[in-house]
Amino acid sequence: MTTFVSILYIIAFALFIYGLMGLTGPRTAVRGNWIAAVGMAIAVIATLLLPGMGNWWLIALGIVLGTVVGVPAARQVKMTAMPQMVALFNGVGGGAVALIAWVEFRTTDGYAHEPLYVAIASLFAAIVGSVSFWGSNIAFGKLQELISGRPISVGRLQQPLNVLLVVGALACAVAIASGGGSEWLIIGVLVASAFLGVMVVLPIGGADMPVVISLLNAFTGLSAAAMGLALDNTALIVAGMIVGASGSILTNLMAKAMNRSIPAIVAGGFGGGTAVAAGGGSGEQRPVRSTSAGDAAIQMAYASKVMVVPGYGMAVAQAQHAVREMADLLESKGIEVLYAIHPVAGRMPGHMNVLLAEADVPYESLKEMDESNSQFPQTDVALVIGANDVTNPAAQSDPSSPIYGMPILSVNSSRSVIVLKRSMSSGFAGIDNELFYDPKTAMLFGDAKSSVAEIVEELKAL
Ligand code: TAP
Repeated sequence: MTTFVSILYIIAFALFIYGLMGLTGPRTAVRGNWIAAVGMAIAVIATLLLPGMGNWWLIALGIVLGTVVGVPAARQVKMTAMPQMVALFNGVGGGAVALIAWVEFRTTDGYAHEPLYVAIASLFAAIVGSVSFWGSNIAFGKLQELISGRPISVGRLQQPLNVLLVVGALACAVAIASGGGSEWLIIGVLVASAFLGVMVVLPIGGADMPVVISLLNAFTGLSAAAMGLALDNTALIVAGMIVGASGSILTNLMAKAMNRSIPAIVAGGFGGGTAVAAGGGSGEQRPVRSTSAGDAAIQMAYASKVMVVPGYGMAVAQAQHAVREMADLLESKGIEVLYAIHPVAGRMPGHMNVLLAEADVPYESLKEMDESNSQFPQTDVALVIGANDVTNPAAQSDPSSPIYGMPILSVNSSRSVIVLKRSMSSGFAGIDNELFYDPKTAMLFGDAKSSVAEIVEELKAL
């Protein structure tokens, strides 16, 4: 039977890797997801075939509960709420690993008759899994606005408190590994790590949250892999390492795109930028130039090249289909239409790519940040649709800005800019955007979908 299980595991691993390859492009992503899901189903079935499995009713109950909660939640979640969904699902994985470590502690009398590496791997899994579970729950609460999205910290005590919690968790773990069998020790490990997860994520401000979610995701993977080592379960090791490695790569890419350092995240208390009231830090009202859908349509109809800069507002308005229709009309007039994609535009990695793919925008028209920035100087009209922070020149010019150093789309180097948004409100980072006051910028106020639909009508009438 174990040989058969090993063969099933190898098939599952091949499907994980093949599925992951599919996730590298929007056209193959859905299929890749299905392939990886089939791989996971095979891995679960194979694990249930392992000798010594019991408690079938409990297993069935777990599967039914997971399906009843997970499937409708995943189907109904709005695209804009996907990051908190990822945080929650990922956190549950970390929590499960922490609980397995506790079960192992109980069934082995505090790892008494196990080799040392089993105790070390289990305790590592308990700490990292617990940090990931509680940290992810805080991330979920912040993004879901159940708790304030602003940084919450205990001031100067923050770092010493975090260090104390790390030392506390490690001390309990060392006591267990050196023979301490009291159950209070493992509870100490789990509780200290739980507080650590909470304390590390609470001081993190809104705009940095995606990096944190991705980091916690990597943590969950690492804890699962460690638990796999302790349980001698290859499937857990491989799946955990895939999640750990891909999560780490994603964290690194996102941190670079937002100009954040990962060690600073781990140390806690990062990303607490001071928000500035939109419309001018001192509260004064500054004049902006506004435009109409008719004028925007004319301006674009006489352009040679239009760059669409989508952001979170396009996702909120669900304007992607209208945008595609507008681009088709412009292209039928011989105008080149490209899309400038910032790596953290929207609220999750690839957010804009997914939306535009949904509207069948050709993938070749989507340009990554570096290429977009080299195209802006030759662009007649940059049409910013619900993007804000990712276009904010303060990231390059104002060292006091909380987003200073974040690479941005330099739309202000195009010949003219039209910004579609509803008001002068700030974006996710809560800061004012000089781009809106630039003399070459015109603001088209309104819901992005309605504004683009109006532009479409005007273009048809031209
Ligand atoms: P934001 O800076 O968040 O700005 C979005 C803008 O869309 C807002 O200023 C808002 O202005 C406008 N908007 C909202 N609803 C709209 C609607 N129905 N129609 C028209 N406009 C609408 O977006 P961004 O430029 O995409 O930047 C993303 C930000 O989120 C960055 O700070 C990034 O760090 C952060 N973040 C990114 C991620 C990832 S991984 N992508 C995850 C979490 C956070 P009005 O209210 O005036 O309309």
